[in-house]
Amino acid sequence: MAELKILGISGSLRKGSFNTAALKICADLMPAGMKMTSYARLDDIPLFNQDVFDAGLPESAKRFRAEVAAADGLLIASPEYNFSLSAALKNAIDWGSRAPNQVFQEKPIAIFSATQGPLGGLPRPEVFIGAAQTKFDAQGKLTDEATKKFLADLLVGFKPWIERMQVKK
Ligand SMILES: Cc1cc2nc3c(=O)[nH]c(=O)nc-3n(C[C@H](O)[C@H](O)[C@H](O)COP(=O)(O)O)c2cc1C
Repeated sequence: MAELKILGISGSLRKGSFNTAALKICADLMPAGMKMTSYARLDDIPLFNQDVFDAGLPESAKRFRAEVAAADGLLIASPEYNFSLSAALKNAIDWGSRAPNQVFQEKPIAIFSATQGPLGGLPRPEVFIGAAQTKFDAQGKLTDEATKKFLADLLVGFKPWIERMQVKK
């Protein structure tokens, strides 16, 4: 089977984001046969508006949709903002979810969350990176071995799911 292409999506726009840092580390933790091929950019995608969608997709939304469509699976790391997804991530999902060609349809997605609170955000799958500020060094390098193992286990579980979805195609 060809190498599975994973698109990384961080729900945080900030430079020092723990979620973006954790996502980048996942590139090194991928099981054999699975590769992080690119990272989506969300900060230039305008707020979703169906009128704009109908009139013709903005380039940034078009790019995001094409990246999602080309990936075999999506790995999302997002902060929880007020018990929900970040607005940047939700907005990108809205652009991708509209017909024709809903790009998330049958797309395997793994999601995790890093937070500076004591517990992680987002309930499932259960990868909680709590107290993230204590688990990364000043360069954004993940220094906590238990967290690294959580992420590696998530990725190992994600791969066979993508493969099952591929067989259905
Ligand atoms: C608007 C806002 C809302 C937040 N809401 C939550 C929340 O509901 N639960 C939580 O655990 N942390 C919450 N936080 C704290 C974030 O988890 C923390 O800022 C985290 O570091 C953001 O992720 P990042 O480091 O990837 O940018 C919130 C932060 C912001 C800015």
